[in-house]
Amino acid sequence: MAIISAPGHRIQLIAGVLFTAIPLWLLAWHFRVRTPLFVSRHIPHHNAWTIDRETFIQEWMDNQIGNEPNNSAISFLCRQPNIKWQPDVVLDLDDANGGIGNVRGNIFDFLGLAILSGSSIVLPSFQSRSSTDLSALWNGKIPFSTFFDEDHFIATFAAACPKMTIYKPKGNHSLPPPLHNRYGMPSMRQDLYPDTRDTEKPNTPSAAVKDLQSWILAQPDRDPKNITLISVGRTLWEGLDTRSLPPAVRRDFGSSLRLIPEVRRLAALVTYNLALTHHLHDIDPRLPYYPSSFLGAHLRTENDAKNAGWLENATPSAHADFDGQTDAYLSQAVERNLQIIYVASGNISEISKFAKKASLLHNITVTHKTALLSPTDLSTLQALSWDQQGLVDYEVLRRSSSFAGYAKSSFAFNIAITRNEFVDWNRESLRLKPGDRRREDLAFDDGVSRIWGRFEWQEERMLRGAWP
Ligand SMILES: *[C@@H]1O[C@H](CO)[C@@H](O)[C@H](O)[C@H]1NC(C)=O
Ligand SMILES: *[C@@H]1O[C@H](CO)[C@@H](O)[C@H](O)[C@H]1NC(C)=O
Ligand SMILES: *[C@@H]1O[C@H](CO)[C@@H](O)[C@H](O)[C@H]1NC(C)=O
Ligand SMILES: *[C@@H]1O[C@H](CO)[C@@H](O)[C@H](O)[C@H]1NC(C)=O
Ligand SMILES: *[C@@H]1O[C@H](CO)[C@@H](O)[C@H](O)[C@H]1NC(C)=O
Repeated sequence: MAIISAPGHRIQLIAGVLFTAIPLWLLAWHFRVRTPLFVSRHIPHHNAWTIDRETFIQEWMDNQIGNEPNNSAISFLCRQPNIKWQPDVVLDLDDANGGIGNVRGNIFDFLGLAILSGSSIVLPSFQSRSSTDLSALWNGKIPFSTFFDEDHFIATFAAACPKMTIYKPKGNHSLPPPLHNRYGMPSMRQDLYPDTRDTEKPNTPSAAVKDLQSWILAQPDRDPKNITLISVGRTLWEGLDTRSLPPAVRRDFGSSLRLIPEVRRLAALVTYNLALTHHLHDIDPRLPYYPSSFLGAHLRTENDAKNAGWLENATPSAHADFDGQTDAYLSQAVERNLQIIYVASGNISEISKFAKKASLLHNITVTHKTALLSPTDLSTLQALSWDQQGLVDYEVLRRSSSFAGYAKSSFAFNIAITRNEFVDWNRESLRLKPGDRRREDLAFDDGVSRIWGRFEWQEERMLRGAWP
């Protein structure tokens, strides 16, 4: 009290209040006025320090991509008048595979075809990765619910796309065996194949639908009196051009593939403990991301990345190996003035190396999920598969203040694309010109995420083909 009454200190106090209040006010104004994602009024002191653990987890889990689920945005796709619904045609995605980035890509391409052709589907399954050899991606089919919230998916489509029946792979139904031939969808991405524009088979959604219909009629083993079950080969980011659709459709279609509650709960816990352990006070569980708390980094240097040749520092893909990636991520943390880095990596010794380097060079603290869970929660985490454990990171990184990843990884790129939905739409250069923000050594930078290095094949496909 005595100190505050001294005139000099009073001025400091007022200045302090102003300096704190003005940016907060600007921030609140920015998000409420410009970003319709903020459904509730943002009360600054709502965070891990002021609410209890279960409330934090619940509020965190209630938030998917920042918005309330809006099924009318998905029904925008399903209610297009030119869709001819054909309940007797059932599509089954045959060979989705890889980590979350690729599997999402495979499933959304498939769903786009199913909706536009008015077909029904078998709930998609995908190949599992071997637990002993991470490079072995063909280890037997695993169910949808390994990654995704099945109830949420089915409820979403039942409400928004009632004419599309979803069969469970081993459900209580008698689907006939699939046709002998497997169907391969032509790309719908005219932007990738402009040369086909004036040909008989342009790469457009309607041409893909026509292609499927004439393919079905040409199958000798088709029984016109029964359901036709068709195995569909996977495609990757060759489906709908996401940027040709309204943001609400993009966001809500994307959030139909919500991760399983076990994973999301662990991610909420990790975030809660991160806030308490490292004294972070702007982690409000209701926000889609936290403006000034931590850098989220995806360190992609595990052995399978090495085996795939991803870590070779050849131009044009710089920032490739351990030093390349960590130098880039540290420079980003310093630039954004973030003292804490949350790192995702499947290799604990790589994490320790990064932590030593960050502390030595910049006095930056590096933390990760296993350091942030209690023994009980840790054993829940360790009971999950390698890819499922990675999903916990996916969820935590998605809400980081600034995100840093490596171009070869579709996991990282997909996080950046999802986060791009939080960016003020007036500043969204991506929507106008996908290539604008790229640099020789930088695949993506929208102010909230940076993807270091280059991988043009993937960039071209993901920028407009991957769903948030
Ligand atoms: C939901 O999406 C529809 C269609 O895009 C839009 O008209 C409506 O305003 C959205 N509702 C909310 C609450 O965002
Ligand atoms: C399977 O479905 C049929 C009709 O839809 C129903 O009569 C039967 O009880 C179901 N069986 C099981 C095991 O759920
Ligand atoms: C359709 O195929 C299933 C499975 O092969 C068979 O049980 C059913 O009798 C067939 N229905 C018709 C109408 O042919
Ligand atoms: C983890 O990284 C270390 C080097 O830091 C390497 O020796 C080891 O083989 C890697 N293990 C896996 C599973 O990636
Ligand atoms: C390093 O950071 C910590 C807190 O983040 C601080 O307490 C400490 O003084 C810093 N050390 C140096 C050498 O800057």
